[in-house]
Amino acid sequence: MPDLIDDIISLAKRRGIAFQSSEIYGGLRSSWDYGPLGVELRRNIRAAWWRSMVQLRDDVVGLEAAIIMSPLVWEASGHVAGFSDPLVECGNCHRRYRADHLQHDEAGAAKCPSCGASSFGEAKQFNLMFKTQMGPVEDEGAIAYLRPETAQGMFVDFTTVQTVARRKLPFGIAQIGKSFRNEITPGNFIFRTREFEQMEMEFFVKPGTDDEWFERWKEHRMAWCLDLGLSKDRLRFHDHEPDELAHYAKTATDIEYAFPFGWSELEGIHNRTDFDLSAHQQASGQDLSYFEQETEERYLPYVVETAIGLDRMLLACLCDAYRVEEAPTAKGDTDKRTVLGLDRSLAPIKVAVLPLSRKDTLVPEARRIHALVKTEWMTQYDDAGAIGRRYRRQDEVGTPFCVTVDFDTLEDAQVTVRERDTMSQDRLPAGNLVAYLKERL
Ligand code: GAP
Repeated sequence: MPDLIDDIISLAKRRGIAFQSSEIYGGLRSSWDYGPLGVELRRNIRAAWWRSMVQLRDDVVGLEAAIIMSPLVWEASGHVAGFSDPLVECGNCHRRYRADHLQHDEAGAAKCPSCGASSFGEAKQFNLMFKTQMGPVEDEGAIAYLRPETAQGMFVDFTTVQTVARRKLPFGIAQIGKSFRNEITPGNFIFRTREFEQMEMEFFVKPGTDDEWFERWKEHRMAWCLDLGLSKDRLRFHDHEPDELAHYAKTATDIEYAFPFGWSELEGIHNRTDFDLSAHQQASGQDLSYFEQETEERYLPYVVETAIGLDRMLLACLCDAYRVEEAPTAKGDTDKRTVLGLDRSLAPIKVAVLPLSRKDTLVPEARRIHALVKTEWMTQYDDAGAIGRRYRRQDEVGTPFCVTVDFDTLEDAQVTVRERDTMSQDRLPAGNLVAYLKERL
């Protein structure tokens, strides 16, 4: 299994899904760039989340808050005082680690992953927020933070959004955007990085109904992961023990995925109670309560939060979809093919158009067919190399359909459509191609 992550990193680099940031300078640890196919995969995951969380619901609306918010937000939310991880330094090699990520020997002593020594000192709390300054004057008043979660935008804008969207409780605010954490030990490719993208939703409910909504959202979020093709046996809930809870949570569950490096958090679902609204109401002096007309009650809503990392979901999709299998060659023997069996809705390229030859006679028809499909989906036109190799190139990036244009096409106006997983081929009139693909994509 650990080899799987190396194979995926290698595929991601080779095919321009994701690769080291600033590579010409030797790279920057934990920073990754997404290339042409990675960009498409991310757009598709975002779109699937938005559709499920906003478009198909009558009770959730969207928001895009600023990344740099007032520093008072982070003081009130408890992040300045408490958003930290325990940091230890090895007395021998002086490398620094997150204390709760270290392996222990039989005697219970933490071992240094780098030099093997067991000589760690006391853990210090290390605040994970990136600090910067606003404007040209470097003084205390200029301190600003890059947000470590998108959630606070939804809390501080709660009353504005509720009023402008004319929503009654229960209702939610959803947001997709970058967050930043100065992680002590980033790693495992794009699993834990210092800059990442979150897809979060804060659902505001009447106190007393929060436990029920917490359960509903757990089920909804697990169903979303399954709908996008993640394997059922690689997903599980992990309920937090009291000592694992974040400073704002009453109860929390992670959806965990069996990554090649072990079961790890994919998504967090938290019951944040009125912790955040209450803190912001107190610190800002603004009334953030909700007036329920039916009962004439005024109260601070409770919040059930769902929070998933886009990068982590992308990694889970790659791990789940990656397979190497035996496949017959044109010569009748067998060969290995790498397939990214992504859900069709997520595939970066939906259709590849492959003219059998680069001969002038075929090109105009192949280009015409390509023009038909590219107005509907992300497509590729590939005329380089043997047809078998072109199929393999598309298989390994998960393209569900390849359309071959051959010399018979010029006579009978038909094309061959090959499906990624079964490798079955259908011959059909080029005029029916878009309808055929629409039924399947
Ligand atoms: N607002 C709640 C919150 O941020 P979290 O459990 O700390 O909760 C939510 O984060 C999700 O964000 C995680 O489940 C994970 O998918 C993603 N995430 C958190 N830290 C990350 C990091 N350093 N790198 C990549 N993804 C991260």
